[in-house]
Amino acid sequence: MARPSAVYVEAPAKINLYLGVGPLHDDGYHELATVFQAVSLLDQLTALPEDSGVVLEMDEDGEQVPGRAADNLAVKAARAVRQRSKLTSGVRLVLSKSIPVAGGMAGGSADAAAALVACNALWGAGLPSSELAELAADLGSDVPFSLHGGTALGASRGEVLTPVLTTGEFTWVVAASFTTLSTPEVYATYDRLNADRELPAPAVPKALLAALRRGDQAGVGQHLHNDLQAAAIHLRPELDLLLESGIDYGALGAMVSGSGPTCVFLARDAEHGLELAVGLSTTGLCRSARIATGPVVGARVVSEF
Ligand code: C5P
Repeated sequence: MARPSAVYVEAPAKINLYLGVGPLHDDGYHELATVFQAVSLLDQLTALPEDSGVVLEMDEDGEQVPGRAADNLAVKAARAVRQRSKLTSGVRLVLSKSIPVAGGMAGGSADAAAALVACNALWGAGLPSSELAELAADLGSDVPFSLHGGTALGASRGEVLTPVLTTGEFTWVVAASFTTLSTPEVYATYDRLNADRELPAPAVPKALLAALRRGDQAGVGQHLHNDLQAAAIHLRPELDLLLESGIDYGALGAMVSGSGPTCVFLARDAEHGLELAVGLSTTGLCRSARIATGPVVGARVVSEF
């Protein structure tokens, strides 16, 4: 079969509706009990053939990723596909980012998931989704969910996934910060803030899962929770004001997303989402406030030719 000459992929950001963080294990990772939801804030990746090598190009209009291309998770993902499928082909990855960089929404993981799917299609590697999921888990704790999409429970480091039944569509307002946060630093701060107590094994509340099943937006709003929030606010105290403003504008729930500093707000519906986004934009406390809906599918090929 002829190989495509271009593959266009989209991959979603994630929100942790619940993030319970347990003890730090010897492998340097914390035990998690989390509920992920993929939302319609999408990074776009186009993969084009190259003779050899993996080349990364950033679309200038998108968010810019600092650091060396070789360290980029999308580049590592392309290499992982090449190695697993024993191919020597090259690829040019053209990335256009919408997901805030180092914002706690798994933007780097979305790009890695996008590159796994794109290279698999471009090179005709034919790796089944189970093998892509294995490669994803080696690349980072959130990459398997970026492939999976929808709404899912995450256990262990976050890479062991079970789908969660939900009803209806949730409207989120995603408030990007002027600053970034390093995930390891936020986890280390969490450990410091909890140094005087033994952390219990985390568990997702059944009430949240029941509210998701019923499509009970207010119930979901009530049970949103993030154990890393206090650590993120410790490092970026101004986030507290932003969260309070969202509640003042009637958000059903407000929290720091993952390790932050992006904050997410659950709106009653699309119209309220717009009001909330406009309101938050005028506070001057965030760089942008955008509407996103969830759940949406994981990283997928949108077109190839
Ligand atoms: O898996 P990933 O490379 O995305 O994780 C980045 C960092 O986040 C880890 O090096 C670790 O410091 C922290 N982390 C953690 N526990 C987890 C997931 C991530 O401590 N379950």
